[in-house]
Amino acid sequence: MSAHFPGRVEDVSSIRLDLRSWTEVDDYLKKCQAIILPIGSTEQHGPTGAIGTDALTAEAVALEVGRRTGVLVTPTQAFGMAEHHLGFPGTMSLQPSTLLAVLHDLVLSLAGNGFERIFVVNGHGGNIATAKAAFAQAYGSALTRSLPVSSKVRCRLVNWFTATPVYLHARDLYGDREGQHATPSEISLTLHLQPSLVTKQRPLPEPSPAGPIHGPDDFRLRHPDGRMGSDPYLAKPEHGKDFLEKAASALTEDLSNFLQSS
Ligand code: NI
Repeated sequence: MSAHFPGRVEDVSSIRLDLRSWTEVDDYLKKCQAIILPIGSTEQHGPTGAIGTDALTAEAVALEVGRRTGVLVTPTQAFGMAEHHLGFPGTMSLQPSTLLAVLHDLVLSLAGNGFERIFVVNGHGGNIATAKAAFAQAYGSALTRSLPVSSKVRCRLVNWFTATPVYLHARDLYGDREGQHATPSEISLTLHLQPSLVTKQRPLPEPSPAGPIHGPDDFRLRHPDGRMGSDPYLAKPEHGKDFLEKAASALTEDLSNFLQSS
């Protein structure tokens, strides 16, 4: 455990920013200037997966990293860039420019009050490019606005689903049935978090393979049930428990390195 962390907590509610008062956050900032921001998406995850999969999973991993380290966790940004999933009901997307503006403003809000290290735990591949663009823009804005931490603010985006131990475990369990969207690994984690979702599980026909994505209509044409090469029927709640453990371990180490880096 790094000395840069405030320390493990037993009760996860004590690291949730939304349950703190501003005076508690002020005290926290005197000893730690790091914060975890989970981001996900609200989008279709195949005919049996929950719409909130990417937000539920990012939040769970973020809170577990927070519990292990004592680093505060913000409320989850549950809406992401999911334009290509809009052909499926229930999907709620932010355009890239909107998501960029949202993340830019959130980073500046935190930086303006003294947070220097913003660790973004991401659950959705479609957010990656836009989030990195938002960080670049926020760095420039922090300087322009002469924020107190303008030259010290650092953002880091980490995808829980591409952490090496998670990726390797998914490959061991599911091989190429893991696919690229509505994957059994992410569905397993949701089954662990929300046992009621197990009732949705059923065998599905052969999925369409992953291919190019050109927009919502094209996506639905190529992937009629929303999956890309995946077999979410392989998902199990006990697998999800293991994925959470592996993701939290890997990301805790990543956060430690991030806090120690210049
Ligand atoms: Ni997903």
